[in-house]
Amino acid sequence: MLNDQIQKLVNNLIQIEHVSTTLYLAMSAYMANQNYTGMAKWLRIQSEEERTHMLKLIDYLTDRGGVVELQELPAQPKEYGSPLETFQKVLEHEQFVTNSYRQAYNYAAQTDQQTAVIIQEFLREQIDEEAQSQKVVDRLKIAGDNPSALLVMDQELGQRAAGPAAGAAPAGG
Ligand SMILES: [Fe+2]
Ligand SMILES: [Fe+2]
Repeated sequence: MLNDQIQKLVNNLIQIEHVSTTLYLAMSAYMANQNYTGMAKWLRIQSEEERTHMLKLIDYLTDRGGVVELQELPAQPKEYGSPLETFQKVLEHEQFVTNSYRQAYNYAAQTDQQTAVIIQEFLREQIDEEAQSQKVVDRLKIAGDNPSALLVMDQELGQRAAGPAAGAAPAGG
């Protein structure tokens, strides 16, 4: 049986993934409005991935006899600026998520090893999540204000396939 603190900790991570889902969905809609259809697709897939992370945590908590508590979701902004500014916000959010998992791991490692193992899988996946968004940010910096380069980037990001990336860890942030 999980202690109250661990239960709270996992519920907090569920909330973070749930917020990530809605944030990327909002960003996707914003990009679609700007006619960056490829970026909109990338962000929609990212939103779906965050949802699978949330479901994984919900299943874990349930399997351990814990009680899932879904909390209120904050409203998300309607606008995110240029493609570069938008993806910089993605990167910042992923860094925040990594920090949250890091803190959760520190506590779980001392109190509940099984929870620590699950969190470790997510921490592992965060390496890819941060690297992926960092790469998009860096390439958008190269593209600058050049419309042709931005459309190439848009096309490139639109090629992202749904589902877990090949070779990706089963869990993720
Ligand atoms: Fe996630
Ligand atoms: Fe993520």
